[in-house]
Amino acid sequence: MAEVVVRELRKSFGTVEVLKGIDLSIADGEMVAVLGPSGCGKSTLLRLVAGLETVTGGEIRIGARRVNELEPKDRDIAMVFQNYALYPHMTVYDNMAYGLKNRRVPRPEIAARVKRAAEILGLEELLDRKPRQLSGGQRQRVAMGRAIVREPEVFLFDEPLSNLDAKLRVQMRHEIRQLQARLGTTGIYVTHDQVEAMTLGDRLVVMNEGRIEQVGAPLEVYERPASLFVAGFIGSPPMNGFPARLGEDRASLVIDRIRLPLAGPLAAAAAAPVVAGIRPEHLQCSADGPLALAVDWVEILGADTVAHGRIAGDHRICVRLPGGTIVHAGDTLRLSVPPDRLHLFDPGSGLRIADAS
Ligand SMILES: Nc1ncnc2c1ncn2[C@@H]1O[C@H](COP(=O)(O)OP(=O)(O)O)[C@@H](O)[C@H]1O
Ligand SMILES: [Mg+2]
Repeated sequence: MAEVVVRELRKSFGTVEVLKGIDLSIADGEMVAVLGPSGCGKSTLLRLVAGLETVTGGEIRIGARRVNELEPKDRDIAMVFQNYALYPHMTVYDNMAYGLKNRRVPRPEIAARVKRAAEILGLEELLDRKPRQLSGGQRQRVAMGRAIVREPEVFLFDEPLSNLDAKLRVQMRHEIRQLQARLGTTGIYVTHDQVEAMTLGDRLVVMNEGRIEQVGAPLEVYERPASLFVAGFIGSPPMNGFPARLGEDRASLVIDRIRLPLAGPLAAAAAAPVVAGIRPEHLQCSADGPLALAVDWVEILGADTVAHGRIAGDHRICVRLPGGTIVHAGDTLRLSVPPDRLHLFDPGSGLRIADAS
């Protein structure tokens, strides 16, 4: 087991800078989920840690060692990919044993490790099968098994569940989490799926265009997003954002002619333009609420109902209501905004201004 430390990590392909200085420390035994949109550099980060790409700048340490110059096989990592890349002509046993044979691990030791991994993953009955005789979930387990038998210092997961259907994804998510915790192996789990990231990571790392936007416990990131980007990426539906300005008292928000109280005064200048953020689940229906939402679209999702529409100033927002709430396009909903649920962002930089709570 080992900690992983990444310092000032940069990666360019030709003239294109894909990673623009990544700093991240992952504790021994910790599972970190790296979340970001497609193309933001998640796989590149993982491939650099694995040694499958060369570093353009910065340093990667695993345990006490600087690994920049080490071959992948000498880094003591095991990687699980989205496409399981099992050898089709080999049995489950041989797929799991292959890497160990290559490393000239003695046969009895290989047998013992494969047996142990098969027990952990519930694959004992399937060891003689070929990959084509397995379901998607079983294949994914074999891919996990191949990583486990290596007994690595670090697991690297690159969207390993993306090929599975939704139900199986939930189950495998749970299994991976339990497994990683039980083995106590440091893990980096890359995904574009916020639910997967929220549920799998001890900490969440949100990436955008080759940079880290925020690192924190999943709830911390949800409750105090550091930027508009994070606010819009975490949460479903994402946080509402609309332009407003700070009142002269610096303790209220002005949208068009509506005034919303803030939880306390801010240091920012009065009348400064801001972007106000409020999560759809934090708006409350109340007859004397200051916001009037002209509903033009309703999504009935069962457990909840999401009403979309426009507020003063013609800004689009949505509100998440309990399932079974009766609301139709054409209705006007009066909404109140709990002051401690308001988030404020700088319209220029997109950064969180100050906590209103
Ligand atoms: N070998 C490569 N050569 C050139 N560009 C690459 C290479 N690998 C990745 N990229 C580019 O780097 C960016 C980040 O890719 P990637 O790390 O795969 O993103 P993610 O995994 O977050 O979707 C993308 O714009 C991609 O096109
Ligand atoms: Mg990727």
